Amino acid sequence: TDVASFIAAVPKCELHLHIEGTLEGELVFELARRNGIDLPYADADQMKRESPFHDLASFLVGYYRNMQVLVTERDFYDLATAYFTRATAQNVRYAEIFFDPQAHTSRGVEFGTVLRGLRRAVVDARRTLDLHVSLIMCFLRDFPAEYAMATLMESLPYREWIVGVGLDSDERGNPPVKFEKVFARARAEGYLLTMHCDVDQPGTLDHIRQALDVIGVDRIDHGVNVLEDPALLAEVVQRGIGLTVCPISNGFVRGSAWEGATKRLLDTGVLVSVNSDDPAYFDGYLTDCFLRVHRETPLSIAEVRTLARNAFETAWLPTTLRTRFL
Ligand code: HPA
Ligand code: ZN
Repeated sequence: TDVASFIAAVPKCELHLHIEGTLEGELVFELARRNGIDLPYADADQMKRESPFHDLASFLVGYYRNMQVLVTERDFYDLATAYFTRATAQNVRYAEIFFDPQAHTSRGVEFGTVLRGLRRAVVDARRTLDLHVSLIMCFLRDFPAEYAMATLMESLPYREWIVGVGLDSDERGNPPVKFEKVFARARAEGYLLTMHCDVDQPGTLDHIRQALDVIGVDRIDHGVNVLEDPALLAEVVQRGIGLTVCPISNGFVRGSAWEGATKRLLDTGVLVSVNSDDPAYFDGYLTDCFLRVHRETPLSIAEVRTLARNAFETAWLPTTLRTRFL
């Protein structure tokens, strides 16, 4: 088989996927109609055309604006089910998906509404698609740490439905240490820990250092800037920290600056995985992300296999699934 066919066929695991980032324009319009919300665009094409972005902050504007159509438990169910169906079609077998409860509670949607909708989709996907999914709750780092702590407390009745916590949104001026207490408490509650150290953010090497030494993360989302610091890079390799890299979204936000980063990380022995981040916005689901890497720096079948395996290796799988997938 050629590499592209192998990429399409290989069983995959996705670890860096914002479920709100899978909200396709067509679903935005369908949910707006269902919920009686007026949109200032005629259709999904116009909305996309008139919502350009060039960096993390400008991406987040459209991301938060569009998700206002998510109101009911059924909306969250439909959102997740649409992603699960697309992911399964690309041979994703296991996914750990991020959700941003504060993006919803901050506009009056109850925490339980979000959780119950997502959970029901997870349960149904296991039955109808044989797709296994775990939920990772992300705190929005541009809100105060107290709001994150309150959200953590709100999650405790749903502890069994959530495998870990993460940190996303606008990184500028919002370093990991801002959330030191929140993550310490999350760890004490049994959550596994990850956080975004987004590409080329101001202070990114300090942020990665803090994530490793102060927070004690189990994984890092993005984190490609470790390539600029040999000591940090060696430590990530030695500690077996998984980096969930997103080749297409990196390219969108950073142009060609980090082309080839996935292959360089792989060659250095980092447990790097390939992920789609916000596929509705960056126009590519998981197979497309692997193909992007292959286009940047041609991969052998063995390298594709290693990248796919790294994701399962650094996933937070229950023992029964570990033996099934590894
Ligand atoms: N970085 C930070 N926040 C986000 C992202 C991301 O890649 N996607 C959705 N929220
Ligand atoms: Zn992300």
